[in-house]
Amino acid sequence: MDLQALIKDIRQDILPFYDQGRVADYIPALASVPPHQFGWAIHTLDGQSHACGDADTPFSIQSISKAFMLAMTLQADGEALWRHVGKEPSGNPFNSLVQLEYEHGIPRNPFINAGALAVTDRAIRHFSDAHARLLSWLRLETGNAALSANEAIAASERAHGDRNAALAHFMKSYGNIEHEVGNVLDQYFHNCSIELSCRELARAGLFLANHGVSPLTGQRYLSRSQAKQVNAVMLTCGTYDAAGEFAYRVGLPVKSGVGGGLLAVIPGKMSLAVWSPQLDSRGNSVLGLEALDRFTTRTGLSIF
Ligand code: DON
Repeated sequence: MDLQALIKDIRQDILPFYDQGRVADYIPALASVPPHQFGWAIHTLDGQSHACGDADTPFSIQSISKAFMLAMTLQADGEALWRHVGKEPSGNPFNSLVQLEYEHGIPRNPFINAGALAVTDRAIRHFSDAHARLLSWLRLETGNAALSANEAIAASERAHGDRNAALAHFMKSYGNIEHEVGNVLDQYFHNCSIELSCRELARAGLFLANHGVSPLTGQRYLSRSQAKQVNAVMLTCGTYDAAGEFAYRVGLPVKSGVGGGLLAVIPGKMSLAVWSPQLDSRGNSVLGLEALDRFTTRTGLSIF
């Protein structure tokens, strides 16, 4: 199959969707990202790489960082992690507060903001500077030693982060945040503010397609069964209250971010990173969903 020709063809197909959606503006530093951008990169386990469009432009990975943080923390914490966060879809927006009270401060899953804050708290227990640990992992896997968080975006998130602060304080009142809330938030915001290109993101996601082992560096990050678990949670919770639609249309583990990126995994085969900043009402990239839907439909490469 000529994947390079296919992704270019799909890019042409989805041009009519270019003006749908809106760039995230609840984080002011993201509102100034030029909307008409689209990048796509694929890395296969047998070493092929394909890309088109703005695949080398760095963008804010935002909630895609939550997939890497989950992997890093699961590796360190093991099953104990699941006492602090659930693994069920929430059916609610990513920043919702409503379930937390009646579920006694245990977030539904690691990908809603409350869950990612709880995971970050557990990561701090193991690594102290969990953000630095995540960065060095991503630098190794992408081969880009200069990779870092965008401080202007992190500052903008902090300045407009009242809802995340509320989630963290609320969980602390239930004893489900151990460390100082300011520290947890700071590390969480910095993780979200890391910038990667599609090519880099697809490389970084390869260990999830390869049952926990990076084919690029040979590092084992997760056991085979933990890799299955992370992929399963991505499938059921990775795109929040659109997880059903993504499963239906794409049929792959996917993690989205409000920077407009999507990381998708085809276990045993490849990882795909798509990016376009304009989002639908549930915070997922409009063009990204259109591209992945067409890719799995035309290739038959989904987990179903
Ligand atoms: O905390 C936030 O709201 C953002 N830093 C991340 C949210 C996000 O990316 C949700 N994903 N679609």
